[in-house]
Amino acid sequence: MNDTILITGGAGFIGSNFILQWLRAETATVVNLDKLTYAGNPRNLSSVERHPRYVFVRGDICDAALVRDVLDQHRPRAIVHFAAESHVDRSIKGPAEFIRTNIEGTFALLECAKSYWSELSPADRERFRFLHISTDEVYGTLASTDPAFSETTAYAPNSPYSASKAASDHLVRAYHHTYGLPTLTTNCSNNYGPFQFPEKLIPLTIHNGLQGSPLPVYGDGQNVRDWLYVEDHCDAIRTVLAKGCPGETYNVGGNSEQKNIDVVRTICGILDEVAPVTSAEPRSRLITFVKDRPGHDRRYAIDAQKIREELGWEPKTTFENGIRATVLWYLKNQEWVRGVVSGEYQHWVDLQYGASRE
Ligand code: NAD
Ligand code: TYD
Repeated sequence: MNDTILITGGAGFIGSNFILQWLRAETATVVNLDKLTYAGNPRNLSSVERHPRYVFVRGDICDAALVRDVLDQHRPRAIVHFAAESHVDRSIKGPAEFIRTNIEGTFALLECAKSYWSELSPADRERFRFLHISTDEVYGTLASTDPAFSETTAYAPNSPYSASKAASDHLVRAYHHTYGLPTLTTNCSNNYGPFQFPEKLIPLTIHNGLQGSPLPVYGDGQNVRDWLYVEDHCDAIRTVLAKGCPGETYNVGGNSEQKNIDVVRTICGILDEVAPVTSAEPRSRLITFVKDRPGHDRRYAIDAQKIREELGWEPKTTFENGIRATVLWYLKNQEWVRGVVSGEYQHWVDLQYGASRE
């Protein structure tokens, strides 16, 4: 075993931010196993494409033979598992892919990790970690006066997405409890920042706001999410990997509860300031209340006391600073957004990578 870590889903939003941060902050090699679904974009990582400590493997986590090959070839000391279908609305329209990747894929990965880990020397077995990246959505929904989710809150997932993530969390837990695999799980709140696919609320609002298109707000816009800047999440993941106790779960949150309508209004205000329109009409005129999402969870909030007190992590970025940085990033990187929304990059992926694994 060497110092390398294996990332799954590293071409997605959080995974690519994680790889960029990892290569800046750490000295070990990172191998990125990603299927490149619509949400995976190798251009997120173009700045490190030729980095001596970055390796990309195109492949599916459900492909156990491939995963085992990657483990045997690179001998990582840890797996950080990001790969998932991640968008709630897509899970409502078509849950099958969520069951496949999030549940069957995690199962395949755990099986491969277990067989790789069991063949390591005792010292390496002690050192190995399987870090599973999960979500606060597994806990279901909160009323406005309920206490925030803690690690002991009962699971009550409400969407096919959160149900599939909850199932994967349970599998990870069972592999620790039954086989002793040194697993760690993080349950994080909503992330925002660079490279997020513009199907999610924040990048969609920025993109539509720049285009002068309607800004869809579901239901009454009073749903609450606890927003965390992606760099802070990546920092938390590195902290849990370095210091977390095997078998434990850690809630990660931004301490920044916001109503959706307020998030959208804040973005409108920043856009009006940094990208004014000639008509001088405020962007907020584009806000359009639309039909609510079925089963829409009312409120998420994270109690991050455990990771703060046991591992010394807390978020560094306020929502005010993070959202401004995010709007400015999208403004500067409109080419990236255009490539993603036009589907042009998917053609490029097919051309560049074809049907091959690497
Ligand atoms: P994303 O949708 O942006 O990226 C997912 C990545 O996984 C893509 O690169 C995709 O190509 C890859 N992938 C999908 N299926 C695959 C498969 N079968 N095999 C290999 N690769 C596959 O997701 P994200 O927002 O970066 O989320 C990453 C992880 O963090 C997910 O597990 C998600 O549940 C969790 N999470 C996300 C948030 C959030 O706000 N985005 C919050 C908490 C937890
Ligand atoms: P989203 O970014 O999809 O994350 P999640 O559903 O995982 O929390 O949505 C964040 C919130 O914004 C959620 O309450 C749904 C809402 N929303 C809208 O109001 N309009 C939109 O167009 C989208 C995509 C989301």
